[in-house]
Amino acid sequence: MSKKEAMAEIVNEISICTKCRLHQSRTNPVPGEGSLDSSLMFIGEAPGAREDATGRPFVGAAGKLLTQLIESIGLSRDEVYITNVVKCRPPQNRDPQADEIYTCLPYLRRQINIIRPRVIVTLGRHATKTVFELAGIPFGSMTRVHGEEFRGRIDGKYVTIIPTYHPAAALYNPNLRRTLVEDFQIIKEALGKEYKGPLDHFIS
Ligand code: URA
Repeated sequence: MSKKEAMAEIVNEISICTKCRLHQSRTNPVPGEGSLDSSLMFIGEAPGAREDATGRPFVGAAGKLLTQLIESIGLSRDEVYITNVVKCRPPQNRDPQADEIYTCLPYLRRQINIIRPRVIVTLGRHATKTVFELAGIPFGSMTRVHGEEFRGRIDGKYVTIIPTYHPAAALYNPNLRRTLVEDFQIIKEALGKEYKGPLDHFIS
């Protein structure tokens, strides 16, 4: 099966998913979008109102900032893959609950396995905690881990994980916005790096 076919299968499953309570209040599920051949994958928390209305990730105010940050390192949205930990909007934009994250996790895991990015950027606490758990990395706090590179393995394959703050948190906070801009420079550098390590890094 090609990457495209494998992702289409996931998107189809998500479109009819009723595995958790979030399906009851969603308008559209938001599976994710972007290049399946990208070396860079962004993982957010959950869709908001605009994402729920359109079925596309990060298209509201936070998405506009994310798009600018991606462009600040010389890339376009189409060149990366963008998704969320939870594919359906939590009512009133509340935090996703642990059981919702757990139920939705197999979709994210399969998406990671199709794309096999060299670098995963986690946006905010929920995404960072979830992806760290997948990679067996202990999570402390965003203050400690943001803008740092973590090497881990997800389903046996090495990946670099770089946590940063959620763009929504930076919308009205210029200091945090500056931090995000700096963290994105770290992402740019990490993308250019050759990691010397165990052979399985070189075998797809
Ligand atoms: N916030 C997220 O975490 N994801 C989106 O898709 C939009 C806003």
